[in-house]
Amino acid sequence: MTCSRVRPARVDDAEALTQIAVRATKHNGYDDDAISRFMPALKINLTLIAAGLVFVAEDEQGVPRGYVSLRPTGMGGLILLEGIFVDPACSRSLVGTRLFAAAVEHSRKMAGSVILIYSSPHAVDFYARLGATRIGMTPFVFSPDVQLSMFAFTIPPSGETAAGAA
Ligand SMILES: CC(C)(COP(=O)(O)OP(=O)(O)OC[C@H]1O[C@@H](n2cnc3c(N)ncnc32)[C@H](O)[C@@H]1OP(=O)(O)O)[C@@H](O)C(=O)NCCC(=O)NCCS
Repeated sequence: MTCSRVRPARVDDAEALTQIAVRATKHNGYDDDAISRFMPALKINLTLIAAGLVFVAEDEQGVPRGYVSLRPTGMGGLILLEGIFVDPACSRSLVGTRLFAAAVEHSRKMAGSVILIYSSPHAVDFYARLGATRIGMTPFVFSPDVQLSMFAFTIPPSGETAAGAA
C-alpha cells in the first residue's frame, strides 16, 4: 500500500487518527490494559489539529493511514514531536519517513532548529535511521514501567533532507 499524499489534518479526521494510534500501538504488542493507560497519549489533540500542527498521510483512496503531530515548546527553536503513528497495514512502506519529512518542513517554517522526540522502545531504529541523536532515557509519564528513549533531531538547512527522509 502506498501513501499518495501528506496534508494538514482536519477536525473530522480526529476519530480515524486516534484509531490509527491505537492500532499502531497494539501492533507493537501492548495489551488492552496498556492501551487504556496510554490513551491520553494516543487520543488525537484537537487543539493541535486546529492550530495546523497535525499532518495526515492518505492512501490513494483518501483514507488516512498515518499522522504526525508537533508542539512548539516556547523554548527558542525547540519543537516537540507529539506523536507519529502509521497504520500497521502500511508499516515499513516509508509512510513514517514521509510524515517525518513533513514535520521537519513545518518545523523549519516555525523557525525550529531541533525536534525533540520521546521514542517508544519499538521506534528507536526508525529515529536513528532518520539521523536523530539519542540523548537520554525517561519513564513514560502515563506508564512508568515503559522507558522512552529521548532523541534530538537537528533540522538541516533548507534544501538538505534528513538521512532517509526522502
Ligand atoms: C515507528 C513508525 C512511525 C515507523 O513508520 P513506518 O512507516 O513503518 O516506517 P518507514 O517505513 O518509514 O521506516 C523507515 C526505516 O526506519 C527503520 N524502521 C522503521 N520501523 C522499524 C521497526 N519497527 N524496527 C526496526 N527498524 C524500523 C527501518 O530502517 C526502515 O527502513 P526499511 O524498512 O527499509 O528497513 C511506525 O512503525 C509506527 O507507527 N509504530 C507504532 C507506533 C510508534 O511506536 N510510534 C512512535 C511513537 S514514539
